[in-house]
Amino acid sequence: MLIVNLLPLDLEKRFKLSNLIRKSVQNLKGYVPGEQPFDQNIIKLNTNENPYLPSPDVQDILSMVEISNLNKYPDPNCTELKKVIADLHNCSVDEVFIGNGSDEILSLSVKSFVEKNEVVGFFDPSYSLYSVLADIENINYEFLDLDEKFEFNGSFNSKIKLFLIANPNAPTGLSLSNDLMLKLVKNKKSVLLIDEAYADFSKNNFMHFALEYENCLITRSLSKSYSLAGIRCGYCIGNKNLIAALNKIKDSYNINYLTQEIARVAILDQRTMKANVEAINQTKNILENKLKELGFEVFPSETNFIWVKPLGISAKKLYNLLMKENILVRYFDNNPKTKDFLRITIGTAPEIFNLIDVLNNIINNNLK
Ligand SMILES: Cc1ncc(COP(=O)(O)O)c(C=O)c1O
Repeated sequence: MLIVNLLPLDLEKRFKLSNLIRKSVQNLKGYVPGEQPFDQNIIKLNTNENPYLPSPDVQDILSMVEISNLNKYPDPNCTELKKVIADLHNCSVDEVFIGNGSDEILSLSVKSFVEKNEVVGFFDPSYSLYSVLADIENINYEFLDLDEKFEFNGSFNSKIKLFLIANPNAPTGLSLSNDLMLKLVKNKKSVLLIDEAYADFSKNNFMHFALEYENCLITRSLSKSYSLAGIRCGYCIGNKNLIAALNKIKDSYNINYLTQEIARVAILDQRTMKANVEAINQTKNILENKLKELGFEVFPSETNFIWVKPLGISAKKLYNLLMKENILVRYFDNNPKTKDFLRITIGTAPEIFNLIDVLNNIINNNLK
């Protein structure tokens, strides 16, 4: 009897609670990040982390951290970190913005630059966070369709106010052409944000656009080439008016004290970052050649991951078989354009040799 009386009340309460949540959030399909398994035995090649240690200066700075500084708020302007980034890119500090990961900069850009009746544009496929950021703000977005070679041959909708363009693109690893980028940036009615999370692995980048064109922002991440995904730090360079807009709406203390210190010394140590990138690029070549020998379609990667289409076995089946062998790669089954492919992060050389052995066995057994 008691239960019967309580149920309607409970339902009513739940109904009211959901009304308290914005419609766009109620209906939102949130971003699904790659798994972070706790099992240390798994070879983790699914989230494009860097398998090597960051600069040894990071360890040094951590041992010098004064815990008596932790009671204070961090520098809201990241003054010292900005100076180091400005020096690296030959720009002034007011052309630099620092985010809690480059993801935060993408999110603040959607909030800063796009009105409700305007549109955000990005490639399909590309980084799947972009559509989620537009959905959170209840802003329309338009996919710019890539063809079967994952290249763009279409035209642009004039209502697009903000282009979010990953270069090199993810999950394909391909770099975009100079011509395409020029076409995008010369359209002065939109902000062109070029998401260069993987640029340190690439031969080309568009950082010069950020200083040449006032409607262009370039974001960079410390999560990939600097081996610092755990500290959450990214930055962007661009015209100081766009940077000032981002500064207006950021949380006052978006970058914590430890992150500011660690990022500063890591960026100063370009040598370690470049050596790690070189090691990854070499291992990548070995894996690319091996997969081509096995008959896989391998796209030319300018990143720390490769985008491949297996031969003689479906991507989904291969993903599951690798999982059984404790090797985790990334499979995107939610998009018809990506469901036949796997994205494999380049791990250490021993991890990749292990992957190659397992792949040899799977493919040989499967083709028998
Ligand atoms: C294209 C792209 N941009 C941005 C990010 C996120 O970078 P951060 O860790 O700096 O937020 C990722 C992460 O995988 C990515 O693939």
